[in-house]
Amino acid sequence: MTVSTIILAAGKGTRMRSPTPKILHRIAGKHLIAFSVDLAKAIKSKETIVVVGNENEHATKVALSGEAVNFCTQKSQLGTGDAVKVALEGFKIKSKYTLILYGDTPFIKSNTIKKMISKAEKGFEFIFLGFHARKKNSYGKFKLGPKGTLIDIIEKKEPEYNSPDSLSNSGIVLAQSGIIADLIQKVTNNNAKQEYYLTDIVKLAAKHGHSSTYVQCKEDECIGINSQLELSFAEKKFQDNFREKLMASGVSMQSPETCFFSYDTIIKSGCIIEPNVFFGTGVKIQSSTIIKSYSHIEGTHIGRHCQIGPFARLRPGTNLLEEVKIGNFVEVKNTTLASKAKANHLTYIGDAKVGAHTNIGAGTIFCNYDGKNKHLSVVGDNVFIGSNASLIAPLKVGDASIVAAGSVINRDVPSESLAIARPIQQNKIGLAKKIMLKLQKVADKMRK
Ligand code: UD1
Ligand code: MG
Repeated sequence: MTVSTIILAAGKGTRMRSPTPKILHRIAGKHLIAFSVDLAKAIKSKETIVVVGNENEHATKVALSGEAVNFCTQKSQLGTGDAVKVALEGFKIKSKYTLILYGDTPFIKSNTIKKMISKAEKGFEFIFLGFHARKKNSYGKFKLGPKGTLIDIIEKKEPEYNSPDSLSNSGIVLAQSGIIADLIQKVTNNNAKQEYYLTDIVKLAAKHGHSSTYVQCKEDECIGINSQLELSFAEKKFQDNFREKLMASGVSMQSPETCFFSYDTIIKSGCIIEPNVFFGTGVKIQSSTIIKSYSHIEGTHIGRHCQIGPFARLRPGTNLLEEVKIGNFVEVKNTTLASKAKANHLTYIGDAKVGAHTNIGAGTIFCNYDGKNKHLSVVGDNVFIGSNASLIAPLKVGDASIVAAGSVINRDVPSESLAIARPIQQNKIGLAKKIMLKLQKVADKMRK
């Protein structure tokens, strides 16, 4: 059965109290709205329509620019029923069934939607998703009829709302496209909030001889985000699950709760992650690598048997092959280090290629930026860069060469050469003693 998806995301999200639209807040580095877009993809939705408001339209389009989704704008937020109506008026749905998701409900599982689809295959025209809530809440409540049918959903502000034991409405619905397109026109705002409630569709369906039912899932799946505090709870839940999955796959963590992962972090088995490590988006780490404490890593690939940190900063475009060592206070950006290369202390390596077995001494700076443009440095295999060297790009340092400590290098270094670029040292025999005596005399005079 084919399904099209409408994601409701026009709400203002005022309770977030933030200039950032609610659905563009992130969990594990991923926009809230992207979770719903990915869910639509997971169930092979034929088309996906995102309903945005005037205020979040531009930013949402930018955030989802790589995605195959259509947008429509709900000019005033008159309720969930109105949002669906705007989408159905703007697009002729191509599938027999339409799935309605929210942009602020990131944990719904594709298996749950598949259960809803199988109810549709049995002939139900509307399938709502409900759950048993542990605590008192203000969700819409299901009113059930015989044989698992749904006869109404009562919203919090409405007079009949008094059944704390009923299933709560997650808001997610699967509906037969033709029927919802027709019935949505009949929804009114004659209620306590003067809103167009999507949930009124249940009563309307019954009135017009259509069947509604429900699927039940766990409360955890239906977590919606309305405030910064709820966002932090959702983040915690995501992180806890993610860490559990990593450890189950053979990654060791001494203090998992202190490490932060992004939704797309990949770490292979045999890796050890010490306490307090941050993984931004786009990180992949091959097996048996150790990441020491207080490292900050994003947009980076790390090969097998590497040692990173403590206090390493790996920025986007970093590619470390096997057995590379990056030590404390080393920053690497847009750089490949080949196997067994080392930069163990206090170094910046930007826009470079560093060969195998090359050693970058403490305090070395790759000077990649001239104030207007970034330039590339290429350092060969088996090179020794002495401490506190400045390598001014664009630059090539040939294989098996040596750069003397303290050098400022701005010309290419041929292979197997020593490059030394620092003032020549002079030793003035006995002069230190003479200077000290002179200074002592001055000090004695001043004290008198
Ligand atoms: C809705 C349901 C309620 C359910 C709850 C679950 C209705 C009438 N009520 O209530 O039964 O228990 O969700 O969380 O549907 N939106 C728009 N345009 C609008 C209004 C909302 O796009 O005009 C979007 C919001 O951005 C959000 C979603 O619809 O993604 C839900 O809106 P919200 O106002 O949070 O609905 P609730 O009052 O929570
Ligand atoms: Mg809500």
